[in-house]
Amino acid sequence: MSAQAVAQSAGSTETAARPLTYADDAIRLFTIATVLWAFVGMAAGVFIAAQLAFPWLNFHEWVNFGRFRPVHTSGVILGFGGNALLATSYYVVQRTCQTRLFGPNWFHILQFWLFQVVLLSAAGSYVLGFTQSKEYAEPEWIFDILITVWWVSYLVVYVGTLVKRKEPHIYVANWFFLAYIVAVAMLHTVNNISIPISWLSLHSYSVYSGVQSAMIQWWYGHNMVGFFLTAGFIGIMYYFVPKQAERPIYSYRLSIVHFWALIFLYIWAGPHHLHYTALPDWAQTLGVVFSVMLWMPSWGGMVNGIMTLSGAWHKLRTDPIMRFLVVAVAFYGMSTFEGPLMSIKEVNALSHYTDWTVGHVHSGALGWVAFVAFGAIYYLVPRLWRRTMHSVALIEVHFWLASIGILLYITAMWVSGITQGLMWRTYDENGFLLYTFSDTVAMLHPYYVTRFLGGVLYLAGVVVMMYNLFRTVTGPIVARTSPTMSAPQAGLTPAE
Ligand code: HEM
Ligand code: HEM
Repeated sequence: MSAQAVAQSAGSTETAARPLTYADDAIRLFTIATVLWAFVGMAAGVFIAAQLAFPWLNFHEWVNFGRFRPVHTSGVILGFGGNALLATSYYVVQRTCQTRLFGPNWFHILQFWLFQVVLLSAAGSYVLGFTQSKEYAEPEWIFDILITVWWVSYLVVYVGTLVKRKEPHIYVANWFFLAYIVAVAMLHTVNNISIPISWLSLHSYSVYSGVQSAMIQWWYGHNMVGFFLTAGFIGIMYYFVPKQAERPIYSYRLSIVHFWALIFLYIWAGPHHLHYTALPDWAQTLGVVFSVMLWMPSWGGMVNGIMTLSGAWHKLRTDPIMRFLVVAVAFYGMSTFEGPLMSIKEVNALSHYTDWTVGHVHSGALGWVAFVAFGAIYYLVPRLWRRTMHSVALIEVHFWLASIGILLYITAMWVSGITQGLMWRTYDENGFLLYTFSDTVAMLHPYYVTRFLGGVLYLAGVVVMMYNLFRTVTGPIVARTSPTMSAPQAGLTPAE
């Protein structure tokens, strides 16, 4: 199949009359879990944001900031992000390969329940004080083993489906999904090698120590961003943006360049998390070089996503789902410009340990990851349940609440982070630091309150989405969706 024909197929994967039925039961469950975890993970985010502004909220050891922060990060990354990736990757691989998911239906449903059990028990273990103290890899050894076994089953279903595909070409979204599945398996296994204190204890020691431990951890941490929060969600972009725009991808060739460049460069950039540490200087510089190079493929991908709207720009006015997807791609561009900038040692000397990093994280997380996931969910729910979207106006409300929430969050963090960094390095004429640490903490207070308010708005948007989707799936069933349907028929028409 020519590249042009493949590019066209992005917009026509639900092709002519199809006798084929897809294995969508587990996908429906993963979609529900995505929405529930969005609420749980972000409510935890709002709570820890409130704790930073109002410290008396650390009223009990089970809910103190240190224990609840990983509940937030795991809740949003693995709970919300993970379920969204599972729902979309299983949906996309079937449609683009024109085949049913590999394995029996009950197996995918079992995978769903096991995933939720592991997530819930890991979150519960943090609250009770069990952690490896490695960021984004907090679960102790027993959970790590369960996650490894589970992840292999995901790889088997995914590759099994690719192998039995009816479509000769493997559409580019699947390349990104496969890269994320394989890379996460490798990262998780290598970073979590540890020795339990005893078989009856949840605690363990990592086999790595000193600077090796730090390097392995940030090789893992950075590539969780690169493969989990980026490659996987780019897979979502390459399917759902063309589908919602009803246009082929702008350049299929560019998507292939985007893929190989991203995969090759990301894996080397981890040392930018360890500037000015005991890590050898050459390794830090290597991290900078690869991070700066990452800017190019990232922007290539952004241009490809945004230009897919060529000839359909009017949809930005009329279609709030399209707006979620396109603003997500714009935030992808913004955070992948900011990241390479922050990786430069002189800039990092100011940004590191400050709220600037937290601002960067959430422009990527709230703007890119969550927006592209919201767009995909609004696309999926009417199709998976064969319903008409309950209210387009409420999608609009969600979009604006979330957008204002992000603005409050990230502008507050940028201003507080840069002020914090500058205060830490201000000297008087005798060479003494001008500000005490507590001066800098007191300065943060209004920004922390603003971030909390931004989080409340963002969470309110999620509640509006939950209500809208609940009303949608409990509404009347509509006739089978047609492959050629226009956006309004596809679920954008509100119930009368
Ligand atoms: C309502 C929305 C959210 C709020 C209010 C919120 C709030 C917070 C707060 C207060 C922190 C701790 C910052 C610190 O330690 O100084 C944090 C950390 C973090 N959050 Fe969120 N968050 C939200 C949504 C999300 C989403 C959707 C994601 C990912 C998809 C995410 C990923 C993270 C990550 C990765 C960190 C750790 C950052 C670091 O170590 O630099 N958050 N969040
Ligand atoms: C070209 C792409 C990117 C580069 C080169 C990059 C670079 C960086 C740098 C230099 C830091 C600060 C490290 C430090 O001072 O400790 C950082 C932190 C972070 N970035 Fe990015 N970034 C990129 C894209 C993204 C995107 C798209 C996301 C989210 C979806 C993201 C999520 C994060 C997270 C979660 C952290 C905080 C890690 C931690 O300390 O816990 N980054 N990134």
